[in-house]
Amino acid sequence: MSAESSPPDVADVPRVTTQTVQEMKDAGVPIAVLTAYDYTSARLFDQAGVDVLLVGDSASNVMAGNETTLPMTLDQMVYHAQCVVRGIDRALVVVDLPFGSYQGAPEEALQSAIRVMKETGSHAVKLEGGAPVVESVERMVTAGVPVMGHLGLTPQSIYNFGTYQVRARGEAEAEQLRADAKRLEAAGCFALVLEKIPAELAQEVTESLSIPTIGIGAGNQTDGQVLVSHDALGLSTDFTPRFVRRYARLDETITEAIDEYVSDVRDRSFPADDESY
Ligand code: KIV
Repeated sequence: MSAESSPPDVADVPRVTTQTVQEMKDAGVPIAVLTAYDYTSARLFDQAGVDVLLVGDSASNVMAGNETTLPMTLDQMVYHAQCVVRGIDRALVVVDLPFGSYQGAPEEALQSAIRVMKETGSHAVKLEGGAPVVESVERMVTAGVPVMGHLGLTPQSIYNFGTYQVRARGEAEAEQLRADAKRLEAAGCFALVLEKIPAELAQEVTESLSIPTIGIGAGNQTDGQVLVSHDALGLSTDFTPRFVRRYARLDETITEAIDEYVSDVRDRSFPADDESY
């Protein structure tokens, strides 16, 4: 095929939309997703070509220092999403609905989603769970809000699971996950996160759906991958799950830089004459 007749590169669009990620799945182009919580990082990730920025409720862990994602509030998610949206030109911004903001009823989910969309300028919301949230997904999609689903290890249910171990290893849970994935697709989700499940199951679910799947700890046959940016950059190093690949050791870089700063202040070599007025 000549260069003139080749199809446009779906990964090269000036603005990623929910249609773009669908086209990427259809064209077999893997989708790069990363979490972001603030303006400066969002700007860098966007310029580096990340397709989707997820304002994850993992902000609870990596920004606020909580043990779980449960304490995150809708107000806090709105604040983080506003900061991220100011930093992007190209990426699709998806915002997690936090624990307690959608589980009660479809109407509650809709009101939370509307608040996120109105007050932040982001493009979609994400929520966790299968059958119990299907009605809420339908309600939001009908109202015009794009929704990303999330199955497998859903951190908002950590006290139900009791551990952060791999989910759906057994046939009963795997069957439930297959059915939930289909239900979420039928309810109108535009994409689905699959977290910490066997790679083979993730591949099967990916092939069974027409919407894109985004994996985290789910092997390399999903339609895209997501990582918590603090993990990928080597900023959060207390515990590193097997599925995390560290692309930098910013913990070391920052510690060395700040050591040097402290030392320069102590010996008065900072500021120098050309840094003074
Ligand atoms: O909150 C988050 O960061 C997430 C990703 C791990 C998918 O939901």
